[in-house]
Amino acid sequence: MKDLKGKTAVVTGAASGMGLSFARRFARAGMNVVLSDIEGPALDIAVEDVKASLAERGSDPVELMAAVTDVASADEVEALATSSIERFGSVAVLCNNAGVGGGSLTASPGGVHLEDWKWVMDVNFWGVVHGHASFLPHMLENGEGHIVNTASMAGHFPGHSAYSASKWAVVGISEGLFDQMTREDLGVGVSCLCPGWVNTKIAESARNRPEWAAPSALNEPSPEQEARVEFIRDQLQSGLDPDAVGDLVHDAIIDDQFWIFTDMTMVAALETRFKNVLACANPAMDLGAALSQTN
Ligand SMILES: NC(=O)c1ccc[n+]([C@@H]2O[C@H](COP(=O)([O-])OP(=O)(O)OC[C@H]3O[C@@H](n4cnc5c(N)ncnc54)[C@H](O)[C@@H]3O)[C@@H](O)[C@H]2O)c1
Repeated sequence: MKDLKGKTAVVTGAASGMGLSFARRFARAGMNVVLSDIEGPALDIAVEDVKASLAERGSDPVELMAAVTDVASADEVEALATSSIERFGSVAVLCNNAGVGGGSLTASPGGVHLEDWKWVMDVNFWGVVHGHASFLPHMLENGEGHIVNTASMAGHFPGHSAYSASKWAVVGISEGLFDQMTREDLGVGVSCLCPGWVNTKIAESARNRPEWAAPSALNEPSPEQEARVEFIRDQLQSGLDPDAVGDLVHDAIIDDQFWIFTDMTMVAALETRFKNVLACANPAMDLGAALSQTN
């Protein structure tokens, strides 16, 4: 999609981190933006943030709309589509970006906390499916649109966790959707964002954990697991500025580019995995260890 000005973007998980950076970037490109998130108060602050960032740069104001939405709910995502289309006439860009880190960071090796899996899959996987279900028919009818799904480098490397599973699923369905849209020339572009470490609040995802998914006492982290969480927090803090990802996403939509990577060193590490697969070799343990630290 070459010209974004005057069109409308819907971003889920827009109250923080990368989603907020997409909203800022789209607004700067002259798009109307629907900022959607499960956190109402943070969403109001995010809308003010986008307005301020436009004013700071001397950019023209755009129309902004805040919509509190839990992407785990098909009904709420459908309501998001309906209210966005009612307000702006059409939606050209959808970023299925809302996501949670879950408790996989602290799960004991081999430990499976079913509520954790359900919560993480509900948000990270079903949230994307709900986005496709509610916005794709509209885009297909218009013969124009672009969907950006936020996966992760964790969606390329093995990991026995709900987070990895959800992100592998997002990578797979995004590639499948791209194939469908392109082969049949349906006018809808698809991108799959696979970030490495980015400096956001993802390590504080528990702030949005529903009560039914609360970790049990059995999941109390060991000192080793706590050290790992610390490691991850450090990696995130020294990670990429989310605004750099906003630029990449904007450019990928313009260029109709499928893969959006933020860390090519991590991408290069995929070679070992593919070599092993092609050779029918068992997964390399050192690779597994490296991968358990990807995000
Ligand atoms: N930060 C990283 O290093 C990194 C790396 C790879 C992938 N990601 C992915 O990037 C995406 C954005 O996360 P972020 O890093 O900006 O973290 P973040 O926590 O700063 O932002 C995530 C946003 O999603 C919202 N959210 C959580 N549950 C929701 C729900 N059920 N419905 C709607 N909104 C919900 C949160 O309120 C928050 O505003 C996620 O999908 C995450 O998995 C992050």
